[in-house]
Amino acid sequence: MRRYLPTLLLLVLALNTGWFVVYSGDLGLRGLLSRNPAEVSRVFHNDGILANVGIALHMIAGAVLTFGAPLQALPIVRRRWPGLHRRFGYGLFVLAVATGSGGLVYITVSGTIGGWWMSLWFAIYGAAMIWTAVNTVYFALAKDLRRHFAWAVRLVVLAVGSWIYRMHYAIWFAATGGVASNEEFTGLFDQVQVVAFFVPYLLIAEIVLRWRAGRPRPTPA
Ligand code: HEM
Repeated sequence: MRRYLPTLLLLVLALNTGWFVVYSGDLGLRGLLSRNPAEVSRVFHNDGILANVGIALHMIAGAVLTFGAPLQALPIVRRRWPGLHRRFGYGLFVLAVATGSGGLVYITVSGTIGGWWMSLWFAIYGAAMIWTAVNTVYFALAKDLRRHFAWAVRLVVLAVGSWIYRMHYAIWFAATGGVASNEEFTGLFDQVQVVAFFVPYLLIAEIVLRWRAGRPRPTPA
């Protein structure tokens, strides 16, 4: 049973992101195609083509990435279909770079609703996503599978980070009705959230990776 636990967890994770994947892809497409993008969402502006294209593309690329990254990490795909894993891996690399870059363009041109603190942490999140994707592919090409695995774990954490952000809000609002959060995203909860949706999960991933690396390996008979 323990053998199938990673597969089970990754499938449950991918399926749970479904609602956000549809929401994000749909919003991005509508923002891109609308003649009046400001009506679609407050993140689009009628006079900001660069920011609109950046944020719309990041939503569409990010949607596929959120769903695709946990599936790409499935042990059965890695072991049984290495060719598929390789091709899909390049696709996810492009999606991760597009998601991070689109978000960074938007932050540079428009800023974020929550001001400099939110912009700073979202920019760190975007840069981390690009850096992680580059390293994942780099170590795969270098055939350093230990490092490739470690960077891939970090990339999966970041890929589902945007969904985690919304889940934290959903749980917090269900539990407290939205204490310390406001429409400008400047409440204490909002300010903690821009760090809490990815930094603690990256730290947990680091602890697990170190524990894994320190485990004694079975010696061949
Ligand atoms: C991982 C996949 C991602 C998905 C699916 C995604 C999706 C979305 C969606 C749907 C929105 C619109 C707000 C909403 O209606 O909730 C949004 C906003 C935004 N995202 Fe992402 N995102 C992802 C990753 C990123 C990354 C890596 C960055 C960092 C560069 C980023 C930066 C932003 C910014 C700056 C906004 C606008 C914030 C504001 O002012 O309200 N996103 N994202």
